Amino acid sequence: MNQIVVLNAGGQYCHLIARRIRELGVHAVVADINRPAANFHGARGIIISGGPASVTEPTSPAVDPRIYALGVPILGICYGHQLIAKDLAGRVARGVVKEYGHSSLHHDESPLFRGLPSRDLTVWMSHGDTVVDVPPGFAIVGETGDCKIAAMQHLERAVFGLQFHPEVVHTEFGTEIYRNFVFGVCGCTSDWDPRARVEQVMEAIRARAASRKVFFLISGGVDSTVAFYCCYRALGPGRVLGLYVDTGFMREGDAEAIEHLIREAGREAIHVADRSGDFFGRLAGVTDPERKRAIIGDTFLTVQEEEFARLGLRDEEWLLGQGTIYPDTIESGGARHSAKIKTHHNRVERIQALIEQGRVLEPLVDFYKDEVRVLGEQLGLPHEVVWRHPFPGPGLAVRCLGAEREAPVERPAIALPDGGAGWVVPVRTVGVQGDERSYSQLLAVEGFADAGAAGAFARRITNAHRAINRVALVAYRRGGRGLAALSIHPATLTRERIALLREADDLVTRIVRKHGLYDAIWQFPVAMLPLGSAPGRETIVLRPVNSRDGMTADFAVLPPAVVDELATSLAALPPVDAVLYDVTNKPPATIELE
Ligand code: XMP
Repeated sequence: MNQIVVLNAGGQYCHLIARRIRELGVHAVVADINRPAANFHGARGIIISGGPASVTEPTSPAVDPRIYALGVPILGICYGHQLIAKDLAGRVARGVVKEYGHSSLHHDESPLFRGLPSRDLTVWMSHGDTVVDVPPGFAIVGETGDCKIAAMQHLERAVFGLQFHPEVVHTEFGTEIYRNFVFGVCGCTSDWDPRARVEQVMEAIRARAASRKVFFLISGGVDSTVAFYCCYRALGPGRVLGLYVDTGFMREGDAEAIEHLIREAGREAIHVADRSGDFFGRLAGVTDPERKRAIIGDTFLTVQEEEFARLGLRDEEWLLGQGTIYPDTIESGGARHSAKIKTHHNRVERIQALIEQGRVLEPLVDFYKDEVRVLGEQLGLPHEVVWRHPFPGPGLAVRCLGAEREAPVERPAIALPDGGAGWVVPVRTVGVQGDERSYSQLLAVEGFADAGAAGAFARRITNAHRAINRVALVAYRRGGRGLAALSIHPATLTRERIALLREADDLVTRIVRKHGLYDAIWQFPVAMLPLGSAPGRETIVLRPVNSRDGMTADFAVLPPAVVDELATSLAALPPVDAVLYDVTNKPPATIELE
């Protein structure tokens, strides 16, 4: 078996590593760090990922020590590097200051660095603790100015440790380092290709379903559409029923993907239910983002059970189908040591219980988003469906921010560059700082030469001030400059606010498509804040991002003329007082505002 196992020490790094390795054409899977070594006998290599914990704490993530005796090559990254040092009788010192950002690595010969053009590389560091003594038999093969043991190896045992992160783009030749490990050290050959997996996925569906039928919740998004269609193709007509629940939080045009499925699979295969009244009812007055997600996930299940009963379907004959993809399961804290950033609606408690009863079928749970798209194309789904921007399950509900009390914008306590002006907007936006969720405030700014300059300022300021995790340019302000005199006003989720946001989102999508930018942007959330000159007035936030899989992202730089056109068009919506353009990367800001 040509497989690399990535042991998850917490956070997002494990997925970045697995993606890099799959891109090399080798199957990589993420596993809980403390799985028994016996599970990994067949693996070609083991990578222990980075994570936010400290190996000096007794309760921190640990590996089964027997993995070191398997004879399988091992590579530790950051936390993994420190864990190897600790487990094999080296020494790790607790860090006082964190080393975070670019660093210059000087390296010696090592199979990991074979073929690199230079002995000096720019690498990405993010750590507090450091290895201060290598274990017996290990050699130091790389150092930086601040870190004397940045790379170590035991050649005979094929055990390696790197303090830096080759999986992030800021590390030069990071892919080469993984290539050297996977092919050179582990002896893998390149044989992972999602295109070749369609048959296997269908085979797995048939085996899992046996004689049962599958009841599918579909949203019009890529994942559930591809998952439904795989099931439909695998099991044939009559054995798959799709339920499209209109929550009231869908985008304009979401129904088109559903129309396509109806054309393909037949009207009797898809049941459409307008349950927006239930969703708005249960969310009335709720402003906390985590509570919104929990209520939406729960309401989905209640609605699904009610529709199931209404359709007269007998429980034991049916499985519940979901379009869950690989990272969804981990981002929810599905693996023990992952910090919980946002709870995905398809991993709320009641779904977990069904999973434990073996009543859930998730055909895409081993795939990353771009691999799901490849499967969709293989299945012959249309381009617009397969390449639709990803959309969160809770939909516009988590893009329509609420507030409990009134609060004015404030001048920031920090210095802005010459000619710049800024306002702290008193909403709590979600960020991910040091692998953990943070709730901080948004800084709106004006007076920068362009988005690039504002983005550089955003990077600097979010590093220096933990109270700010997001920076946005003021693209439009009704009747004035800047955000002075605007306030956050109490607001909740209402049909009127969602209708306004849907219209704004549709306007943005049309303009972006008209300029041929839709396919060049990975996702373009349009969010709304109850920020304005009076209650009922709103601010629209543009959040275009480029990403590979949503785990990290760069804000997308839009041509100034497009930003102007977006601002002018949105200003034509009467309740809109301002338009902001988010120029923050992830991290520190998550993609969605809440
Ligand atoms: P964040 O905001 O965490 O988003 O940077 C990363 C990706 O996940 C999507 N997202 C969600 N998807 N349920 C979902 O199905 C959710 O509750 C949820 N929250 C965020 C987001 O749109 C982005 O693609």
